[in-house]
Amino acid sequence: MTMDELKRQAAARAIEHVRDGMKLGLGTGSTARHFVELLGERVRTGLNVTGVPTSEATRADAQRCGIPLTTLDDIDRLDLTVDGADEIDPVLNVIKGGGGALLREKIVAAASDRMIVIADDSKWVETLGRFPLPVEVIPFGLSATRRAMERAFAKTGVSGQMVVRKGGDGHAFVTDGGHWIVDAHLRQIPDAPRLAGFLNSIPGVVEHGLFIGLASIAMLAGSQGIRVVERS
Ligand code: A5P
Repeated sequence: MTMDELKRQAAARAIEHVRDGMKLGLGTGSTARHFVELLGERVRTGLNVTGVPTSEATRADAQRCGIPLTTLDDIDRLDLTVDGADEIDPVLNVIKGGGGALLREKIVAAASDRMIVIADDSKWVETLGRFPLPVEVIPFGLSATRRAMERAFAKTGVSGQMVVRKGGDGHAFVTDGGHWIVDAHLRQIPDAPRLAGFLNSIPGVVEHGLFIGLASIAMLAGSQGIRVVERS
């Protein structure tokens, strides 16, 4: 089975958790796109749901699939968010932001009663950090922000190269919120909750890709089928 087929399988399993009338957070990335497409199929056969997209790309996909959309200004809470991940650890802490949508993804996940993470099983790791940690930053004062990030890394015993992400045009990649992304190549993050706390307190950091305690269920598709892991 191809990687893309595995992603679609994980998305199909998550669809089973969707109920009529739900308000849904719609994730970003190639796996979440499968979920949006499958949800669109259900909507076309009568399912009544409303979605909040986590990126402009997902907004376009959802509109194309005929999914009614709303915003977090018009509703109080979301019942469920379904999103992909770049890495998932055994307590369901997650790295996200490989697609650059981490800020909206985290706002939407935090406004949801539950978050299901869908992925192929290559995303499962014992310790987060092999995937470069995306950190969304304000371009103003970037060098000062980078130094503060270095200090935060050192306090948790990690270090590594920090690279400003480039877009296809060779210039800095600009997020939907108008910010830049620094990818931190840390290799291992032994204490992700502690690092998340330090990064949260840096003024030039808008958000980071450590999703701590947000995912309730992970659905991991592999050659042996789907493994469902619930946060204890
Ligand atoms: C988008 O910003 C990311 O958080 C994605 O959810 C994550 O990178 C997973 O993407 P794929 O499903 O494309 O691997």
